Amino acid sequence: MGVFVSTDDPGPAGHEQVVFCQDRQSGLKAIIGIYSTALGPALGGTRFYPYASEEAALADVLDLSRGMAYKNALAGLDLGGGKAVIWGDPDQVKSEALLRAYGRFVQSLGGRYYTACDVGTYVADMDVIARETRYVTGRSVEHGGAGDSSVLTAWGVFQGRRAAAEHVWGSPSLRGRRVGVAGLGKVGRHLTGHLVDDGAEVVATDVDPRALEWARTNHPGVALVADTAALVAADIDVYAPCALGGALNDDTVPALRARVVAGAANNQLAHPGIEKLLADRGILYAPDYVVNAGGVIQVADEIEGFNFDRAKLRATRIFDTTRQILRLADEEGVPPAVAADRLAERRMADVGRLRAIHLG
Ligand SMILES: NC(=O)c1ccc[n+]([C@@H]2O[C@H](COP(=O)([O-])OP(=O)(O)OC[C@H]3O[C@@H](n4cnc5c(N)ncnc54)[C@H](O)[C@@H]3O)[C@@H](O)[C@H]2O)c1
Repeated sequence: MGVFVSTDDPGPAGHEQVVFCQDRQSGLKAIIGIYSTALGPALGGTRFYPYASEEAALADVLDLSRGMAYKNALAGLDLGGGKAVIWGDPDQVKSEALLRAYGRFVQSLGGRYYTACDVGTYVADMDVIARETRYVTGRSVEHGGAGDSSVLTAWGVFQGRRAAAEHVWGSPSLRGRRVGVAGLGKVGRHLTGHLVDDGAEVVATDVDPRALEWARTNHPGVALVADTAALVAADIDVYAPCALGGALNDDTVPALRARVVAGAANNQLAHPGIEKLLADRGILYAPDYVVNAGGVIQVADEIEGFNFDRAKLRATRIFDTTRQILRLADEEGVPPAVAADRLAERRMADVGRLRAIHLG
């Protein structure tokens, strides 16, 4: 283990541990970032991505691992926050040897870090990594894993959205509300099913014609619009970004007609200050990392031996957490995103410090 390229290290921002891993023969270059183990071993996925530079890879892993600490804390998990990046184009360099080399580095951390899927890594990759380490989640059902995490991600988003609806309209039901879903991928499709079942009117868009075809076939009542700009400007009550990050930005927020934003996409706020812009426009934003935690709840359950019903029960509690955050935001006069951060920090401090009690 060691730094594989000399660099002007921007310095870990409060991280416990940052590990550089290299295996020249297989081409593995990975960085594992552990932000906090205050609540337990760090859990977070492995992003396999062709970063432009080592600095970009390092910046991403520092950012993502910090985010996982907050997400896992608010998901009520006994897990800290970590994340890993593998620097390279998965289509060019991903191989059994590379993944297994990576697995051995994960194992070498002795359980301080559990990995999972992220952009560029899939359930099948976790099965390969699991041949070298016990500290992996997101494996296939055949290998004792939790399978596709989008199932409970969508369920959790639906719960968070119900809490937001209750806060704004006094009832959690979405019956008769118009919900705009941007992105009919794995999560967006499950979510659309929950919304339709709850009696909501769904308006949706996707850049992939196959996703639109899926909607026409499975939910002919869903109205399809040309693009995200049309969706944002449509007469909708709730906006659900379920595609890429940065959905809430200087263009979309002023145009948005919805009263509530609650969606699955990570990093929805394009830059600091957007949360205030939303609040100033009277739009309630249910923080992304709170409502999309169902996926990490699903894969974390593997550590105990996967039980879908137990994991679903935990993901259902996203309703209570979202409600608590929205109330705290009102009490403290801050946007929900700030209230969520405060609550996560409080849990990390309050529960994390208990290890100071000597057990004899
Ligand atoms: N899958 C999970 O368990 C999980 C967990 C937490 C967060 N998330 C986040 O939720 C989001 C969706 O995840 P997913 O697993 O469904 O991904 P996915 O790749 O299956 O689906 C994304 C969909 O968005 C569409 N899309 C891309 N750009 C678009 C655009 N400009 N306008 C409209 N549609 C566009 C794609 O065509 C695709 O259908 C991502 O941001 C992901 O990081 C996913």
